[in-house]
Amino acid sequence: MPTIDEIATFAKKKGFVFPSAEIYGGMAGFYDYGPLGSEMVMKIKNLWWKSIVHDRENVVGINGSIIGSEAVWNASGHVANFIDVVAFCKKCKLKIKVDKHEIGKAKCDCGALYENLGEFNPMFSTEVGVIKSEAVKAYLRPETAQTIFINFKNVLDTSRVKLPFGIAQIGKAFRNEISPRNFLFRMREFEQMELEFFTHPDKKNDCPIFEEVEKVKVNVLTAKEQAGTGKMESMTMGDLLKKKIIKTKWHAYWIGYRYNWYLDLGVNPEKLRLREHVPEELSHYSAATWDIDYEYPIGWKELEGNADRTDYDLQQHTKSSKVDLSYYDEDTKERVIPHVVSEPSAGVDRVFLTLLMDAYHEEEVKGETRIVLKLHPDVAPFKVAILPLVKKDGLSEKGKEVFNNLKQKFNSFYDESGSIGRRYRRMDEIGTPFCITVDHESLEQDDCTLRERDSMRQIRIKIKDLSDIIKKLSEGEKLETFGKFIN
Ligand code: GAP
Repeated sequence: MPTIDEIATFAKKKGFVFPSAEIYGGMAGFYDYGPLGSEMVMKIKNLWWKSIVHDRENVVGINGSIIGSEAVWNASGHVANFIDVVAFCKKCKLKIKVDKHEIGKAKCDCGALYENLGEFNPMFSTEVGVIKSEAVKAYLRPETAQTIFINFKNVLDTSRVKLPFGIAQIGKAFRNEISPRNFLFRMREFEQMELEFFTHPDKKNDCPIFEEVEKVKVNVLTAKEQAGTGKMESMTMGDLLKKKIIKTKWHAYWIGYRYNWYLDLGVNPEKLRLREHVPEELSHYSAATWDIDYEYPIGWKELEGNADRTDYDLQQHTKSSKVDLSYYDEDTKERVIPHVVSEPSAGVDRVFLTLLMDAYHEEEVKGETRIVLKLHPDVAPFKVAILPLVKKDGLSEKGKEVFNNLKQKFNSFYDESGSIGRRYRRMDEIGTPFCITVDHESLEQDDCTLRERDSMRQIRIKIKDLSDIIKKLSEGEKLETFGKFIN
């Protein structure tokens, strides 16, 4: 696996990600997505949205504003409790953030004990209003979740949702991180994909769809093991629930569902694990939190979190706004404040980084190093590239005809210049799963070759069958189902 710095260099070179304002020297913690990166980001968000909102009848989406009044962030507890501690290594002159419970224990890589430089709140503040005396303080949201809670009543009043139900959102969040480092891993401006899933307080176990995830195999590091030997165990989600390691069925469902999402996208199962938060590290709103971690070159780190936020946020906003945020349960004929039994919360950028790192491979092919991004076809920037063997003899026209047809269905790329070998390599490097070549035979037979990125094998197929075959290959069917290998 490449180091994080190597992947950052690669991402820039290929047009995935650029340091923001680079021509002015850049700004730590800010990045811009280039042509390939923005395609991939859009696909990640669309896949998440489809699986969380569109594929379900009890989840709706919102898109809230980024700047929120001071009242919101006072009520949510972020002004008082969203606190990092700045630790400083005198020897390396390095500043990092540590959790409050690590004070006095955290050590720098060089072995020296960190010095505590004090606490700070990573929220970006601003003022709304141009006339100083009338301006009011506001914050850029450090999590998207709060715009869901403050719209809870609006959603209840306007949608036909009934408990249990969820409200989802994808949007930007901002944290003035002390040491934004490791490329996209810790940024100051990033994007979150969050779902707040609400249940009746007494029905956190009434999950009729747990079966979907019961057999999902996960690597688990419990809070108990972190205090003990630190051993990771392999279990099913069913076991985790049965043994009451995860306390409620809905929480277990969403943790398992999200873990499986990464497995479905082809992420190396050995590099994924679930880690339970130890009591001292729980956020101020959480009764239980589980992270899905990935093993990066910098160690096991959080890829996404999932907290049981209880009724904390709705209670806080009810108290502060004096607006009743309770829910009338028609079955029990009572008003209740619902619980957020589960909050799957993933950073778009962190998912992007993980998929890129996990997909990056260097292989020896005929004495040369081939860089190949083994990205799942659903997240690769381009699904298919159309590469006429040569420009002349009408192959260019034939290639464009194929391109114009395929681009209606898939994000397609057309390239007619340079040697075919080099064009294949270029597509491997940016993760394009399928390459189509039209040659002189194509003009007579109306067929083409289809090359698969990972195996580099090719078959010959009719042009009219292309889109159907590409769709099936993307869904996991084998190349040999559609023709004999010709290489
Ligand atoms: N609403 C819950 C919440 O915000 P979090 O664990 O602080 O929880 C959730 O953040 C996810 O957001 C993380 O798992 C990570 O993927 C992403 N994230 C958080 N801070 C980030 C940062 N500085 N840069 C990039 N992604 C970040």
